[in-house]
Amino acid sequence: PVLVVDFGAQYAQLIARRVREAQIYSEVVPHSASTEEILAKNPAAIILSGGPSSVYAEGAPGMDPKLTEAGVPMFGICYGHQLLASALGGVVEPTGVREFGRTEVRVTGDGGVLHAGLPAHQPAWMSHNDSVTKAPEGSVVTASSDGAEVAGFEDVKRRFAGVQYHPEVAHSPHGQEVLRRFLRDIAGIEPQWTTSSIVEEQVQRISDQIGDGRAICGLSGGVDSAVAAALVQRAIGDRLTCVFVDHGLLRAGERTQVEQDFVSATGVNLVTVDARERFLDALAGVTDPEQKRKIIGREFIRVFEQAERDLKAQGDYKFLVQGTLYPDVVESGGGEGTANIKSHHNVGGLPDDLEFELVEPLRLLFKDEVRRVGSELGLPETIVQRQPFPGPGLGIRIIGAVDQERLDTLRAADLIAREELTAAGLDRSIWQCPVVLLADVRSVGVQGDGRTYGHPVVLRPVSSEDAMTADWTRLPYDVLERISTRITNEVAEVNRVVLDVTSKPPGTIEWE
Ligand code: XMP
Repeated sequence: PVLVVDFGAQYAQLIARRVREAQIYSEVVPHSASTEEILAKNPAAIILSGGPSSVYAEGAPGMDPKLTEAGVPMFGICYGHQLLASALGGVVEPTGVREFGRTEVRVTGDGGVLHAGLPAHQPAWMSHNDSVTKAPEGSVVTASSDGAEVAGFEDVKRRFAGVQYHPEVAHSPHGQEVLRRFLRDIAGIEPQWTTSSIVEEQVQRISDQIGDGRAICGLSGGVDSAVAAALVQRAIGDRLTCVFVDHGLLRAGERTQVEQDFVSATGVNLVTVDARERFLDALAGVTDPEQKRKIIGREFIRVFEQAERDLKAQGDYKFLVQGTLYPDVVESGGGEGTANIKSHHNVGGLPDDLEFELVEPLRLLFKDEVRRVGSELGLPETIVQRQPFPGPGLGIRIIGAVDQERLDTLRAADLIAREELTAAGLDRSIWQCPVVLLADVRSVGVQGDGRTYGHPVVLRPVSSEDAMTADWTRLPYDVLERISTRITNEVAEVNRVVLDVTSKPPGTIEWE
């Protein structure tokens, strides 16, 4: 793999994703990994990420100079650029000129391998105080900026290079090309990470792991569990059984989507458990968001365990399939001291004492790769392009206690919003658009010459790359108008539609 050493920036995962976009497999390792651990992974190249420190600050994460002697191609980005330059004998100093955000970078000399032929003046995203003021011996400087004399250097012979700017972000329009040139032209790596190679490799791994055993998989209706199940099914056929728990907090049409679309595309064994009453009973009168989340998680597990016991009659199910994604893996490795903002519940939230051996075929993949794998496996667009929907479902989109009537109201409003967004062709350009029912709030309205005293619903359209941060989406007014008119006309209990214009942070995407 190409290893991205994470120096504590939020950029490391993004860099790994960009490397994979160049069709080369990449993984993130923490900067605390030892040289031995890093080399044991047999890296085709090492990329040092950006980070918040100054190379000279006390306690700043460093790099073992031995790493540069291992003969592995290395590329430094931002902080990593400074670390690499100084490890190779260059000079890093605070120059007094800080650059943050969009900065003009100039190509110097012939541009070398990394910058040749790119626009002589190009925008790039910077974020630094210190700068490399002298490039390492034997290297050439191929880019500079006002605040960074050495904004790019390369030593093609020894296969080292670095850039002060962030090539991985969209604000550096030539960044992907520069990264690609390092990987292919300097490090000499062949692009081989394609969707069909991923499928082939994962199917093989799953077969090896499960052998002639049986596996069970909880389906949520979401992309991840569906793709994980489809991969496992490809490997072990009808020794896989999927369990879908209808907790009554689903959106309109979701159960059908799983029962029809997914089954007809895959022919998988599916058990649906109707647990609607059980969840409604357990949630009765509960208004606290965390309590709701915990109850839903707990009930889900109980239902799932029961389904598992029922299946025992058919044979021994030793394996449990989970749709864990790579960002979850990286985050739970490095998530020390992160505050518990919300207790996330999904089908992955099952307890350890379930006594299954886990099968996690998506552990190495990012969301966009999962979608491509799903398409490759023949899953329908309705599943593969599905927007995220939280495991606790509509239960956390009703602000106030959950009951049948409120669920029906919200389901109707949500369906209208989704229909109109789809009709306007906006599904692919927004991340998701939760519709939230403020069940304990009433306001006065007028409809058909009569006074109404109904509830508001909130539209929460957001744009995001990974749900960690998000911006509110500027939906066209005519689309908002159609949604508002239809909801207030067609959903009896709702007499007001409001728009949430808060980014994340400070708001989260869901209201609870
Ligand atoms: P927040 O509200 O934390 O949501 O900004 C971030 C993303 O995660 C989804 N979400 C969940 N997904 N189980 C899930 O599987 C959950 O408990 C859960 N809570 C929030 C949310 O829809 C958004 O995409």
